[in-house]
Amino acid sequence: MAEPRKIIIDTDPGQDDAAAIMLAFGSREELEVLGITTVAGNVPLSLTSRNARIICELCDRRDIKVFAGADRPIARKLVTAEHVHGKTGLDGPELAEPTMALQAQHGVDFIVETLRNEPEGSVTLCTLGPLTNVAMAFQKAPDVVGRVRELVMMGGGFFEGGNITPAAEFNIYVDPEAADIVFRSGVPIVMMPLDVTHQLLTKKDRVQRMADIGTPPAIAMVEMLQFFERFDVEKYGSDGGPLHDPTTVAYLLKPELFQGRECNVEIETKSELTVGMTVVDWWHVTDRKRNAKVMRNVDADGFFALLTERFARI
Ligand code: RIB
Ligand code: CA
Repeated sequence: MAEPRKIIIDTDPGQDDAAAIMLAFGSREELEVLGITTVAGNVPLSLTSRNARIICELCDRRDIKVFAGADRPIARKLVTAEHVHGKTGLDGPELAEPTMALQAQHGVDFIVETLRNEPEGSVTLCTLGPLTNVAMAFQKAPDVVGRVRELVMMGGGFFEGGNITPAAEFNIYVDPEAADIVFRSGVPIVMMPLDVTHQLLTKKDRVQRMADIGTPPAIAMVEMLQFFERFDVEKYGSDGGPLHDPTTVAYLLKPELFQGRECNVEIETKSELTVGMTVVDWWHVTDRKRNAKVMRNVDADGFFALLTERFARI
């Protein structure tokens, strides 16, 4: 058995973030979570940092170190998404307040220090929220960019458009300057946009199979998803809501579930109309650098089978 892949999860929990973290926790043979860094996004930093620890304790992983990172975007006011995730960001199940402590070190410093201390090319960054922490780490310590094995991020959209404005997906919209820094940095990027995540609806039969696991983490996850999906069900009449963030961890576990290609991606940071848009040169009509592996298709049934199988291991 190969050594588990070392990852840092950067996150703004969020029910779908919780699913991603739980997928990682259910895959201990393949993934070693070096730490979780939290960022302001779906809800303010104090709540994302609370929620990350709740998820760790729910999964009996008090060994995981959680570091609070940036409490606001690099150059803008924070925009949050309580309308989707509820006032706590983790609405749905009744969950106790966390008792495990936050680490004293800032999340950005943890990212820098870990990349410097671990062997070059051995650490993967798995980002589930705005890219503020990663961009700040790259700005503070440009030497660490080349030490990253891969950055697998949920964010952006192209043929699918946006979910917070007609042009922009939430994670990019919250901190477009951070996304611009990261996409220009040269770090190897795998991008999971709305084009993929909108194919992954939490349909009733899929959620029922998670409920059938019957363990406290699985039941709590089902209650999170039932809360999280109501926004899309009420707005679009869909059978469930799109499960965004676990696509990143699923890619690390089973990349064959996904199809995409190397493209140039640039971030709009100026226009009021389209700020936060990920401009993807999918048809390669320019000779701009192909700086990201952009995913466009996914085996949805295979994805949910993986989630259910791994949730059952927690
Ligand atoms: O647009 C979806 C993304 O925004 C997900 O990461 C969700 O958790 C929110 O952060
Ligand atoms: Ca998220």
